[in-house]
Amino acid sequence: VDAPPRDAFGRVLTDLRISVVDRCNFRCPYCLPEDQYPEHHPFLDKRERLSFEEIVRLTGIFAGLGVTKLRLTGGEPLLRRELPKLVSWLANVPGIADIAMTTNGTLLPRSVEALREAGLSRITLSLDSLDPAIYRQLSGRRGEVDEALAAIDAAERAGYASLKINCVVMRGINDDGVLDLVARFRGTPHVVRFIEYMDVGTLNGWERGKVVPSAELVARIGERWPLHAIDRAQRHDVAERYAFDDGAGEVGFISSVTAPFCGDCTRARLSADGKLYTCLFANEGFDLRALLRDGAGDDAIGAAVAGLWAARDDRYSERRAIERARGNDHRVEMFAIGG
Ligand code: GTP
Ligand code: 5AD
Ligand code: SF4
Ligand code: SF4
Repeated sequence: VDAPPRDAFGRVLTDLRISVVDRCNFRCPYCLPEDQYPEHHPFLDKRERLSFEEIVRLTGIFAGLGVTKLRLTGGEPLLRRELPKLVSWLANVPGIADIAMTTNGTLLPRSVEALREAGLSRITLSLDSLDPAIYRQLSGRRGEVDEALAAIDAAERAGYASLKINCVVMRGINDDGVLDLVARFRGTPHVVRFIEYMDVGTLNGWERGKVVPSAELVARIGERWPLHAIDRAQRHDVAERYAFDDGAGEVGFISSVTAPFCGDCTRARLSADGKLYTCLFANEGFDLRALLRDGAGDDAIGAAVAGLWAARDDRYSERRAIERARGNDHRVEMFAIGG
């Protein structure tokens, strides 16, 4: 095989994030705000979505180009029927060493054991607040915090000893709850990560003033429980890590706004309808489904992906100010590519 393709900045492709469905049972204001997506929003229908066979075939092609890590996303990935079957097929693709999933957890308890058996390596759970009213608000009045906590219990019972717990922080909405989240998960094997609210898509009403810079949270948390920075496990990881001085574990910060990490970005994203996005903030995706359904061979599809990756020069977060000033305003929506 050829050497793995490198993009315009020398970055390789190791992580493929696969959205299996664009629907979600939540309406988080930072992602899929209710007023922008009323109940009748035209989400993809079944024939528009890639089949499991198509996803597995593409994964094999990506593995041939150097991908070793997969992450299943949505919308809410557990709304896709028979997800454990997909996981078991993906786990058998040569070269795939790690399969993770991002979920809001409401549907997790019923399938977590099957997912574990199928070979799902890791689970990331979204949990924006422990306060029932604020949690409800941030789910678009669709979810209850107790369901998210029940999902954590179910995952633990199924053998997931350590989860990543993601909290998107919005100023004036849930930033007061940051210390509660830390208090709750300090001393457990779970790792809470605070994410700066990002301007993904164009419909979430993002404003710079609603972003809480990670540095501010590090200071606030550190005042209560002294912290020290530790190295990322891998260079291309998105989170800055801090360990508690008293040994009670760690917290993470994902600072795409104040400290962009495009320089090490090895991630590509596949939407549920088979478009490949080389950046979370991409304007267009590349239609792999058209190639698949036109009968293209694996070599031709692999060559197309390699070519696309070689031409990749995305680094939106590093150029945010310039891009926004330029009126870059038709970015892909987060629910379509899962974050
Ligand atoms: P692993 O490395 O597989 O454990 O995953 P992760 O930590 O990258 O996954 P996760 O999906 O939990 O990432 C957390 C959040 O970081 C996402 O929901 C996004 O908000 C943000 N994020 C992830 N990848 C990128 C990226 O490439 N660019 C930007 N700007 N934000 C990202
Ligand atoms: N800013 C930051 N993260 C976001 N996510 C969705 N929308 C945003 C946004 N505007 C991420 C969160 C959520 C995951 C599914 O996607 O981490 O948990
Ligand atoms: Fe919220 Fe995730 Fe659904 Fe977006 S995909 S609305 S972040 S639960
Ligand atoms: Fe990668 Fe784009 Fe995120 Fe930068 S903004 S880290 S290039 S996905």
